[in-house]
Amino acid sequence: MYPGSFDPITNGHLDLIQRGSRMFDKLIVSILRNDSKQALFSIEERTAMLREVLHIYPNVEVDSFDGLLVDHAAAQEATVLLRGIRAISDYEKELQMALMNRRLRPEIETLFLMAGEAHSFISSRLVKEVIGLGGNIKGLVPPSVEARLLKRFSAAGAAGIRRNS
Ligand code: PNS
Repeated sequence: MYPGSFDPITNGHLDLIQRGSRMFDKLIVSILRNDSKQALFSIEERTAMLREVLHIYPNVEVDSFDGLLVDHAAAQEATVLLRGIRAISDYEKELQMALMNRRLRPEIETLFLMAGEAHSFISSRLVKEVIGLGGNIKGLVPPSVEARLLKRFSAAGAAGIRRNS
């Protein structure tokens, strides 16, 4: 199981999913529903975006969860949690989560993959910041996701112009 917020999916996530799908018979990409962070895309939109990008991988499924990740993994009979590490700054939070998850359900392992070097600087947060400020995000997210982001931000821009006029 590869859990995350995926708001939205980036090419960094995609790289991990491709590699994970080669390592396991089945990979469930699971979106957190009850995130405290204010999401740009609804859970339905994120699910649709993930399915659009991932339908070419026959052993990859997309679902979403509420509550404890390890309980969801157990309910889906997943035995491994896949997470990516980009830089040392990711390590502390990931270690804490992995140890907590192991304490909650010792039978479920967390497996870390190092992000590909071409992706180690990409995050959903920065992608949203850059596009929100008018920057180019080509190559950082799948083309279908880029199109949705452009639409969302041009709509937000237009609403802003309407509000301010
Ligand atoms: O992509 P993200 O935002 O780094 O993913 C974080 C995620 C979804 C893996 C994490 O927030 C999570 O597992 N949340 C579920 C709540 C939970 O199980 N908490 C206790 C163990 S840390």
